[in-house]
Amino acid sequence: MSKNYFINTENTTYAIGVDDKGIVRHLYWGSRIDDESLEIPDIWDTNSNHSDMDNAVTEYTAFGGKMYRNCAVKCRYFDNCRDCILKFKSAAQNENELVITLEDSVYSFLVELHYVTYPDSDIITRFARLKNKSDNDILIEKMMSAEISLPSELPYEIMNTNGSWGGEFQLESETLKAGSVVFESRKGTTGHTNQPTFIAHQGANEDFGTVYFAALGYSGSFKVEAQRDFKGITRVTLGVNDFDFSYTLKAGQELETPCVYIGVSNGFAQMSNDMSRFAINHILPRAYAQKPLPVLYNSWEATAFDVNTKGQLELAKKAAELGCELFVMDDGWFGKRNNDCAGLGDWFVNEEKFPNGLDELINGVNALKMDFGLWFEPEMVQRDSDLFRAHPDWVYHYPTRENNELRNQLVLNLTKPEVEQYVFDCMDKMLEKHNIRYIKWDMNRPFSEVGAENLENAQELWLRHTKAVYAVADRLKEKYPYLQLEACASGGGRADLGALGHFDMVWTSDNTDPLDRLVIQQGFSMLYPIKCMRAWVTDWNDNRRPVSLDFRFASSMQGSLSIGANLNEYSEQDIEKAKKYIALYKEIRPIIQFGKLYRLRNESAHGYWANEYVDDNEAVLFVMTTAYTLDNRHHKVLNLRGLDEKAKYSYTVDGREFVHSGAYLMNGGLSLELYNPFDAKIIRIKKVD
Ligand code: DGJ
Repeated sequence: MSKNYFINTENTTYAIGVDDKGIVRHLYWGSRIDDESLEIPDIWDTNSNHSDMDNAVTEYTAFGGKMYRNCAVKCRYFDNCRDCILKFKSAAQNENELVITLEDSVYSFLVELHYVTYPDSDIITRFARLKNKSDNDILIEKMMSAEISLPSELPYEIMNTNGSWGGEFQLESETLKAGSVVFESRKGTTGHTNQPTFIAHQGANEDFGTVYFAALGYSGSFKVEAQRDFKGITRVTLGVNDFDFSYTLKAGQELETPCVYIGVSNGFAQMSNDMSRFAINHILPRAYAQKPLPVLYNSWEATAFDVNTKGQLELAKKAAELGCELFVMDDGWFGKRNNDCAGLGDWFVNEEKFPNGLDELINGVNALKMDFGLWFEPEMVQRDSDLFRAHPDWVYHYPTRENNELRNQLVLNLTKPEVEQYVFDCMDKMLEKHNIRYIKWDMNRPFSEVGAENLENAQELWLRHTKAVYAVADRLKEKYPYLQLEACASGGGRADLGALGHFDMVWTSDNTDPLDRLVIQQGFSMLYPIKCMRAWVTDWNDNRRPVSLDFRFASSMQGSLSIGANLNEYSEQDIEKAKKYIALYKEIRPIIQFGKLYRLRNESAHGYWANEYVDDNEAVLFVMTTAYTLDNRHHKVLNLRGLDEKAKYSYTVDGREFVHSGAYLMNGGLSLELYNPFDAKIIRIKKVD
């Protein structure tokens, strides 16, 4: 007897059907339909080459039987049977969750599909739980978090990123007409190139057009695969990368996939705003999720490894004068860390640099009314370190191979409980002794020589390592509830919703050029909350592409404003400017960090940038030129978004005051003149009572 299951959010419906043969079929995903009469299409072998299962749109496809498409799950049973046939077993549904259980009854292998909904969001959380109820091991060779089937038989535009170190989050789109497109990381971390996300549409823009999207909550090697079949059906799977992966599910054991967050929207702006609000309300660590993040100063670009009490205190005094709320000392404070050749693993204070210990600096920073933060790279070790000399077997390695180094460092095997404990202890010891309220957790190289003799099945290490990172972060936060954590991996190598479930914010790129950053920030803002995006004002590229400090601030104020410049080089005038912008940022911070974002113009399509941030009472418009505007085209009209149509708003442009209705500003638009390259205007548009 067939049966349908419906998942309704306020504006969307997701429908699943179980057919007469017990096959769990995908029926619908899109705008809310409130129609429970959906039919389950018949399937049959159309000829000897196109089987019924090949034709079916299934909800979580297993490799087995007459199924030749990409699959969501693949396993090997104890008798070497690699044929997995999953049929409907049961379903349980309450207000917030639907759980459909599938079973391969011959081998007592069960897969639960979870769909979680929220009263305040249209986003649905999906994950799968794999259960071995047999008496034998089951080798899991692939376990995706979700499979998604798109409704139209016409091709979709698929958007992801094609980034690199220093150039993360570069958005790219392509039309998927035939075959598959894969976005992935095989590095152990998310990496800088592709994102563990999925955006599909058929000609949508910021404001209109249906967009299907998903973001995976995982920061390890991942895989997103979209495939369009001969009938035009596009199916997508997202999850832990199956490349070099397997997991031995012992008799009686269970394993959960990472979560994937999925949604459907009208236009990209709604997608970004829905995901941002969802992440703030449901994903980010609770302590700081709803709180504005502080303006921080980080000394890395000013001092690199050359840190000491006097130099850091000098910078701290200047940072405090500007209005910074947190001072972070980066790399170089520990072990024999005078350059990037030694020291990682030895997380004790370097006594030559800090002869009186760290408290002299921390107390000095606190006396300036700033919190203190410290850099760690806990997953790493260097040959020239006490840790490596004591435990050369603590790194991933094969006995027959020489370990490759990158930045002169090796990756610790966090799947060993004693190594995970060491990683926790090294930060815990410092947190116990000192008033450290912020940790920047860095990770500067991908894995290699991925051997782990401690594991029966070393292919589990990809998943186990990422879980260990999350576990240490969670333990630290539990013991020190005030602690803020920033995830960093050579810039944006670990900037994803998995990290953001355990870290309060991420570092999106080592490239702090204010122009390049606008592109990076745009890519990040598609599916992640911009509140979590640390954005430093620095001197980067000042010799190659000089821009004003005003431009630098306007760029960084569109994220979580931070300062990374060498303040010793700031003139009196620079200091006054920086003070002014930091004070302004503090006023508009709630709008930037918690308001809605509308990307009105971007450089590649329009030759200049315009982003609007808006909450109930005010909008802030950033307009930034990158080149001379052609003389007869300097007059611009920007249709604002998200205002109250009936309310009046006042604002000042180039010294002239205006008052207009929200309706006019959205439909008629806000006029302004743009002439000069690297001009930056910040316009506050305030509701008038
Ligand atoms: C890479 C990070 O992305 C930088 O911000 C800085 O912390 C360096 N590592 C320090 O080695």
